[in-house]
Amino acid sequence: MKSDLYRKTKKDLPVPPNLGDYEELRKSFSWKTAEKELAWFEGKINAAYNAVDRHVETWRKNKVALYWEDEEGRKQQYTFEELARRSNQFGNYLKDLGVARGDRVFLFLPRIPELYIAFLGILKIGAIAGTLFSAFQEQALSDRLGNSGASVVVTHSSLLPRIEKVRHKLPELHHVLVVDHEAFAKELSKKDEELHIVHMDPGDYAFMLYTSGTTGKPKGVMHTHRAVVQEYETARWVLDLRDEDTYWCTADPGWVTGIAYEILGSWTAGVSALVYAGRFDPKRWYKLLEDYKISVWYTAPTAVRMLMAAGGALVRGYDLSHLRHMCSVGEPLNPEAIVWAVRTFGRPFHDTWWQTETGAICIANYPAMDIKIGSMGKPIPGLDAAIVDDSGHVLPPGTEGNIALKPGWPSMMKTIWKRPHKYESYFSGGYYISGDRGLMDRDGYFWFIGRADDVIKTSGERVGPFEVESALVAHPAVIEAGVIGKPDSLRGEIIKAFVVLTKEESDKVKVKAYAEKLKEELASHVKKHLAGHAYPREIEFIDKLPKTRSGKIMRRILKAREMGLPIGDTSTLEEY
Ligand code: WTA
Repeated sequence: MKSDLYRKTKKDLPVPPNLGDYEELRKSFSWKTAEKELAWFEGKINAAYNAVDRHVETWRKNKVALYWEDEEGRKQQYTFEELARRSNQFGNYLKDLGVARGDRVFLFLPRIPELYIAFLGILKIGAIAGTLFSAFQEQALSDRLGNSGASVVVTHSSLLPRIEKVRHKLPELHHVLVVDHEAFAKELSKKDEELHIVHMDPGDYAFMLYTSGTTGKPKGVMHTHRAVVQEYETARWVLDLRDEDTYWCTADPGWVTGIAYEILGSWTAGVSALVYAGRFDPKRWYKLLEDYKISVWYTAPTAVRMLMAAGGALVRGYDLSHLRHMCSVGEPLNPEAIVWAVRTFGRPFHDTWWQTETGAICIANYPAMDIKIGSMGKPIPGLDAAIVDDSGHVLPPGTEGNIALKPGWPSMMKTIWKRPHKYESYFSGGYYISGDRGLMDRDGYFWFIGRADDVIKTSGERVGPFEVESALVAHPAVIEAGVIGKPDSLRGEIIKAFVVLTKEESDKVKVKAYAEKLKEELASHVKKHLAGHAYPREIEFIDKLPKTRSGKIMRRILKAREMGLPIGDTSTLEEY
């Protein structure tokens, strides 16, 4: 499969792609020139202005920017001008509250239009937007809001009780705005629709996202206004967005994809975008593709595999003839999914690779470039990627090593909030080390092999084992827990927990029915305290966890055991 080549034909390129000749552009490209495609104020910039307000001065003023639909079929739509005015009002509301440049304003909202409006409003006044998945529960919320020192949380009445629960732990949180409370909505509607949009230094913070590593609490990845330059260029080169498109990105803005390609990059490219606020459902998804005549679609491999599982026959009931270009991100896109897509939609998914930390697409398959099925493609123009060893030395083609990037791309994170040392630890030998292992072949295509650390990717979501372990240990029956990602044909990985119980409980779980009940209880405990999506789907009770002599849980041993693989070097292991 690895060498299978998907050659692009006329059918794949019904219109000439924005990026016609990849190799040519790579040679001639400079970010300095590319920056000129964005709107600047004498060396200053505002990403939200570029995404929305800039279009209001053009023929796009009355173009629909946002088509919104929820699970119940309620619909709304906003033109670029309406988004501009509404976000101005939001910005004014925040200003009147006393929110200043650099303050952190967090969004804990379902995927409703107010989420997008508020995000833009925050950036316009120079504050820093933070997004939170609506699946988050108390522990996840208090970690993120506490560390960021957010002074305002914008939420919805359905989520408010969770904020109330943690509020006493958050001395810096001064305001909780509930967008569907009538009093708030009324106040907001009275605010001025004009706003002075703050001209930011390109390196000033625009938004932050918490993401997980192997150890410790989630870390706040800081992104700047300059990121919009790369988000915009990649929206054009990789997603191939253009004015005629109706585009659907299925990601939530709690995830970097939802920010870069549902708000900043895609709107800067001026497209009409669909946001669907509902759960995954194959029929509904096909119906949305049909109803909105979606032409460009950006989704995740798990969703593609779930569509595959629902069967290709289902697709035939829908008119998907507008679909022109499809991309995916977040986890390996398996060759079968591409082959299935070609059979089913007549065109392939294009794999793209990037990370919360990289802020925008870094390695990708382009519309005009043949796909080596199973490969993530090639680095974007203006970015050098390489495979390096742990000291940052470049390795020759065909050798496995760390996927690494030469710093200097516009959307690179600026720092880790309050943890400068953590930020520095990403770099070695002049390279940014991604934490992913892979190789580059002789033609310059990159191939993903796996994570270098214990980070779990389940249904495309990045989950830190430590957070799940901490949530488990908070349950009275649990003494210790070790958490791994277990390969799963649908979800990429599922979360599996190995749990050491108290003496009393370990006697009780000898009765099978009791053991099953306790497993369910532990899973729902994690769901209730950490996040709806980050709970262990499998739990195994075990007497003892493998640990290093210094007491660190060796998850790689749990994983090897789970998968029946050799355990490898155990010289640092405590007797096991
Ligand atoms: C994984 C997502 C294989 C990878 C935008 C990376 C991928 C992590 C791919 C970042 C891909 C992302 N193939 N793996 N095309 N894209 N990943 O921060 O392990 O949620 O380091 O950002 O997802 O996840 P994050």
